[in-house]
Amino acid sequence: MAEALLEPWFPLLSSLFWWQRFRGLRTDCIVLRKNGRMRVLCGSAQWVCRRGSDKLLAMKTPTRIFITGASSGLGAGLARHYARPGVTLGLVARRRDLLATLQADLAQRGATVHVYEQDVCDTSKLAACARDFLERAQGIDLVLANAGVGIRNSIHEGESDEVAALMQINVIGVTNTLLPFVPTMLKQKSGTLVGMSSMAGHQALPGRTAYCASKAAVRVFMDGLRMDLHGTGVHAMTLCPGFVDTPLIQDNPSTFWVVDLERGVRLMAKAIAARKRTYTFPWQMNLLHYLAKCLPECVVRRLAPAPRTRSSLRREGVSIGRPAP
Ligand SMILES: NC(=O)c1ccc[n+]([C@@H]2O[C@H](COP(=O)([O-])OP(=O)(O)OC[C@H]3O[C@@H](n4cnc5c(N)ncnc54)[C@H](OP(=O)(O)O)[C@@H]3O)[C@@H](O)[C@H]2O)c1
Repeated sequence: MAEALLEPWFPLLSSLFWWQRFRGLRTDCIVLRKNGRMRVLCGSAQWVCRRGSDKLLAMKTPTRIFITGASSGLGAGLARHYARPGVTLGLVARRRDLLATLQADLAQRGATVHVYEQDVCDTSKLAACARDFLERAQGIDLVLANAGVGIRNSIHEGESDEVAALMQINVIGVTNTLLPFVPTMLKQKSGTLVGMSSMAGHQALPGRTAYCASKAAVRVFMDGLRMDLHGTGVHAMTLCPGFVDTPLIQDNPSTFWVVDLERGVRLMAKAIAARKRTYTFPWQMNLLHYLAKCLPECVVRRLAPAPRTRSSLRREGVSIGRPAP
């Protein structure tokens, strides 16, 4: 192995390897010791094929779009981004007033908007919303399972109620949103399902155990769904934002590389149109998550924000799920 390090091709091959890892390709199995050149070439060919197939499969502009968590932040931003004449939007959230304001704004832009004042945790009611939207829009092009909440730990108190509520919204809410659309998409042989994960879904962090676990669950679920749907024309993908300037991060003192909402929405829409598999942004966060994988746990512990022993929501006397009106 030491001799291989001195070979002139080694820096070239290893930078190719890291470049491909950075692009999110599956080159994990590369072994540089034996037959390394061959395997790296395989990876490069995969990159060329992926770029080709991305272009071929690139999604036509979606016109029938269903978004959860649309009353604020990323969901509202994405709804505004897609709203134009000829587009039908289905918007889900619990805050009626915010949905009504957004509906009026989007209607002015020429879009047809159906709002559903609904909690994503209610499986049967959300399936009913999906059925209603499918009937009104006559099909579906894009589903964004975006609704989500963040809490810091209440782990030290040994209380699991907030964690359970978070898992319900962040994980079950995603499956409740996406799965009712699958049969129609299969019939259409088209459509894109998007799960909103997070940079935190790549790496467990102290003080955010439940949030990280919920976002990792979304990412893995979407990876499995994509494999299940392979060859059907239906695509499943994951968005992993770093920090985007929305109400979710307002009380978080330890944010960095914060992306403004407009740019975040533009980047996500571009990734959706290109049918990426997992899209982590901004690029600094993507690089950071690969670096963090190589760091020992004691270093991650030191670099990440200190664990909180009480849930910030509980301390402020706020319940995690805003009550449905
Ligand atoms: N902003 C970031 O930096 C960032 C980074 C990584 C990942 N994310 C993820 O992006 C998603 C959107 O976050 P955001 O930044 O836009 O936060 P936000 O502004 O707080 O929006 C969260 C949205 O989710 C909805 N929601 C929450 N619980 C719900 C429930 N039980 N049923 C229906 N809707 C519910 C909220 O609507 P109502 O309260 O009206 O129901 C709201 O519209 C989340 O999944 C979050 O984890 C955000």
